[in-house]
Amino acid sequence: MAACFFASNAFAQECIPTRSDALGPYFVTGMPLTQNLNRFGKPGEALTVNGRILDAGAPDQAVTNARVEIWQTDGDGRYHPQNNGASSDYDDVALDLRGTVLTAGDGTYHYVTVIPGRYAPRPRHIHYRISAPGHETLVTQLYLSDTATVRTDPCRSGQFERTANGAFFNALVIYLNRD
Ligand SMILES: [Fe+2]
Repeated sequence: MAACFFASNAFAQECIPTRSDALGPYFVTGMPLTQNLNRFGKPGEALTVNGRILDAGAPDQAVTNARVEIWQTDGDGRYHPQNNGASSDYDDVALDLRGTVLTAGDGTYHYVTVIPGRYAPRPRHIHYRISAPGHETLVTQLYLSDTATVRTDPCRSGQFERTANGAFFNALVIYLNRD
């Protein structure tokens, strides 16, 4: 079912490029670089996300220095803030479980956060906006791999899988379209 999981899998072709998903109402622009999204200790089970971004035009080729803007709820299903705008509109302490990471030379990225909570009617998810020179900007979302959304659309972003110890998740590869 997780057709996008392996780039070399014959089924992966149907998931290239990664599909877009809704931006949602609570995107705050201009969040600084950080690999710790939970800067102020919001509630939730610790989560480490590892992922990789590749070029949909040459799927074995990494996208380096892609800018991945991330935002999500805490374990209780609340955004901080429950609002949008620019980061400069808020006091720093009001901005949590949000941040930007860059991909390395091999297209990988990682960050630590908490497992997002549910808010009706959505399944747990993490929002992404990915921009990189020479590529179309992609707005998408990550879902836990056991959600209904993933079952109906396995190509939506890098789904993540709970590993044996429960604390680490591996995002599926995200494929960016060229401009
Ligand atoms: Fe959301």
